[in-house]
Amino acid sequence: MDYENILCDFNEGVTTITINRPSKLNALNKVTIKELHEAFKEADKDDDTKVIIITGSGEKAFVAGADISEFADYSVSQGERLAAQGQALLFDFVAHLGTPVIAAVNGFALGGGLELAMSAHFRIASDNAKMGLPEVSLGVIPGYGGTQRLPQLVGKGRAMEMIMTAGMVSAEDALSYGLVNHVVSQEELLPLAQKIAGKIKKNSSVAVAAAINSVNAGFEDGENGFDTEITEFGKCFGTADFKEGTQAFLEKRKPEFPGK
Ligand code: COA
Repeated sequence: MDYENILCDFNEGVTTITINRPSKLNALNKVTIKELHEAFKEADKDDDTKVIIITGSGEKAFVAGADISEFADYSVSQGERLAAQGQALLFDFVAHLGTPVIAAVNGFALGGGLELAMSAHFRIASDNAKMGLPEVSLGVIPGYGGTQRLPQLVGKGRAMEMIMTAGMVSAEDALSYGLVNHVVSQEELLPLAQKIAGKIKKNSSVAVAAAINSVNAGFEDGENGFDTEITEFGKCFGTADFKEGTQAFLEKRKPEFPGK
């Protein structure tokens, strides 16, 4: 599929989605959000894609936020709809995908950019990356899940400080906060994402999806993560991947998971 603002590349079980509006620091306008939805949906449906990497083009930005020029004159109801539609189409959508999503944060990840990175299942960053939720400096608040996901990742106090000051943290600080898992040079960023993806894709994709669902369940209102874990654990016993994984162990060979 041809996209205006994103690039998709498939290589050895990994689909890399690159947001490609470098002249606007990859800011998320409506078209880009829709295209990202389609690209994530396609990659998730594709049996050959075991891991998705999301990154930004150019050396400066992952994503410098939602496109401010699009919502500057919005009304209250339009503002509410913007947040609701964005969350449904992209941010919640990504967080709940069964295919693991790694955000490779290659520069500024601000506002909607950091919210997108936080929707991914985990994040790695290049050493020039800067992250923050600057919305209150524009008279608005994070609307794509930032007020919920940032405290989950870094704790309430740090999240409150980052949101209220509208400041940016360095990649090193983000690492010490637990906001990103690894920091490397910009050249090493995508190779590291591929390397981690390589480890994930050796495992049962069905079990990985069940694990994502169980971990997410602990953060959902009205869901008991322990109960979800029990159900997902039980379901694994009915899969061909489980039969293959246990059989391969007993036969002292590497498993070849059918992904079912
Ligand atoms: N929405 C729309 N356009 C954006 C944007 C955004 N969130 N972030 C950057 N851009 C555009 C700029 O308007 C500029 O476009 P132009 O060349 O047509 O004028 C271009 O991207 C380059 O940005 P510029 O501000 O010139 O780069 P810089 O290196 O001086 O500053 C930032 C980089 C990231 C500090 C600055 O762009 C910024 O503060 N962006 C907004 C961040 C933000 O508040 N995001 C949250 C939105 S809710």
